[in-house]
Amino acid sequence: MEAKKVKIRVPGTSANLGAGFDTLGISCSCYNELELELYKNSDFQIEVYGEGAGIIPQTSQNIVYKSILQVLEKVGAADTYKGAHIVMHNSVPLSRGLGSSAAAIVGGLKAANEALGAPLSQQDLLQLATDIEGHPDNVAPALFGGMTISVVRDGCPKTFCFMPRLNFKMVVAVPDFYLPTKAAREVLPDMVSRADAITNIGSTAMLIATLMKGSPKFLAESFEDRLHQQYRAELIPGMRDVFAAAKEAGAMGAFLSGAGPCLIAITSGNEDKVGKAMQQAFSGHEVNSSYMVLSVDRDGATLLDD
Ligand code: HSE
Repeated sequence: MEAKKVKIRVPGTSANLGAGFDTLGISCSCYNELELELYKNSDFQIEVYGEGAGIIPQTSQNIVYKSILQVLEKVGAADTYKGAHIVMHNSVPLSRGLGSSAAAIVGGLKAANEALGAPLSQQDLLQLATDIEGHPDNVAPALFGGMTISVVRDGCPKTFCFMPRLNFKMVVAVPDFYLPTKAAREVLPDMVSRADAITNIGSTAMLIATLMKGSPKFLAESFEDRLHQQYRAELIPGMRDVFAAAKEAGAMGAFLSGAGPCLIAITSGNEDKVGKAMQQAFSGHEVNSSYMVLSVDRDGATLLDD
């Protein structure tokens, strides 16, 4: 098969949405673009611009390249295509809980698949992405777009996607420090109480119903979480104050984005007021931050026309 040069756009994502730990995800209107040309010779070059430039490896250890290799191996083309030229233009903040690794994995898989004429299905790509990332909560919305509910059954990821009927924005406070997911998982207990589990089941069910129905009535009750955020607070100075400041400024709810350290407030107006209040609350804890106002992305990873 002859490979064609492709350009892919892939969104950043936020996992958990408060209570839906390792299950819920949402695709955000903040994007990485990826160009890929596969070579039959062994020429190899990776260029990185924007977020992560100077930090992301430009070697065979690059996660985009490793993901490309997974597709080549899966379709039996690894012996044909030994080299690649990869150009990354990144806007998704690196290692901040906005799905930068999921965007890299899904971007690499989607680009390689499209370059080869799409021999693999979306479900094949979800399986590969989940195997690489270890869980589907970020890779699913990066691949499909919208809001996603993902489970893994017998090693096989299953994802239900929908577009929320409720109109809202996500005000994302981005603190100026990295928090590796591994470190943010190490602080979590192995066992939780029945009461805590019930709190999260209730919040998650309430959130999904609220978003599918398009009624904000119970939205404020939908973010209560007892499985992860209180343990992670010690890693994110000012987390609770930032949540309180966002709500005081008019947000409907606030939560840790994925494993953090980004914090997200859900709003329907007053976005700049909320963003500035979040920034100010972070400054009170000597944390510099910026903020972005994002919408729900509906498309997921997309092949762009040149
Ligand atoms: N669900 C994950 C966590 C998000 O909270 O650790 C990172 O993929």
